[in-house]
Amino acid sequence: MRIKKAVFPVAGLGTRFLPATKAMPKEMLPVVDKPIIQYAVEEALAAGIEQIIFVTGSGKSALEDHFDTNLQLENTLKERGKTDLLRTVESVAPHASNFVYTRQSEPLGLGHAIWCARDIVGDEPFAVLLADDLIQSEVPVLHQMINEFDRLRASMMAIIVVEQEETSRYGIIEAEQGFNGTVQVRSMVEKPAPEEAPSNLAVIGRYILTPRIFDHLGRQDRGAGNEIQLTDAMSSLLTEQPIFGYKFKGRRFDCGDKAGFQMANIAFALERPELRKQLLPGLAKLVSSAGSAGA
Ligand code: UTP
Repeated sequence: MRIKKAVFPVAGLGTRFLPATKAMPKEMLPVVDKPIIQYAVEEALAAGIEQIIFVTGSGKSALEDHFDTNLQLENTLKERGKTDLLRTVESVAPHASNFVYTRQSEPLGLGHAIWCARDIVGDEPFAVLLADDLIQSEVPVLHQMINEFDRLRASMMAIIVVEQEETSRYGIIEAEQGFNGTVQVRSMVEKPAPEEAPSNLAVIGRYILTPRIFDHLGRQDRGAGNEIQLTDAMSSLLTEQPIFGYKFKGRRFDCGDKAGFQMANIAFALERPELRKQLLPGLAKLVSSAGSAGA
């Protein structure tokens, strides 16, 4: 069965970015000139996803507006002959009718947010993308994963290798070596202390899940951080179905974290020739003066 639906949980509070996220969704923070959520949506559409399902919460209406048409803006751009900008605005939501919204009434955790999409997803495998994880790659990461899914027909998640001291920020897997970038998961644990982590293979925000996950999410108690965790439900799913980790080809930035977000802005800006020309001399000066200030 083809993966046609992707769930985007966007109901978190984004506390690490306060006060910026007091009235604006974290997912609307821009990297260069595009909200981080738009990169994730573009990745999904490029991977052949046909239905985009947002799980939103209170205070997220800017996100819904972003993926809707804005006739007043489009007419003004048309009148002023700003054709390029008009095209940019129109391309944000090429098929607005394929965007579906549901609500998570309380931010009870990522696992709970995904469970909120169960009726819209129905009985078919689906993708989950967390906009926080912004990835530069030649082939969109979700596309790479769908190719692997076609081979393995099982749930999978994107994984990266992290430093041992970073394990408490991630879901960590214990796995057996596979091939083609995949490993078969033996066990998983959410945010283990470095001395308790079974490995340094960390899960990041790209998943393909079989619909069985909804039963496990529905039975899940609160876990780490007093939230209903996807990792715990996947651990439970492991008792009946295989799960794979996939080492994707690409460079990932953690935009849920201040330093990662700044790095993403620099990296994506340097990809643009016109910005690169302006930025490189300024960055070199900043780095050398920051170096001498710290010395
Ligand atoms: P995070 O763990 O980054 O939480 O969520 P957060 O609330 O967004 O940010 P901080 O940690 O307070 O700064 C990872 C993803 O899961 C979604 C978030 O919107 C984000 O895309 N999420 C999290 C939900 O949709 N609902 C929740 O209850 C929790």
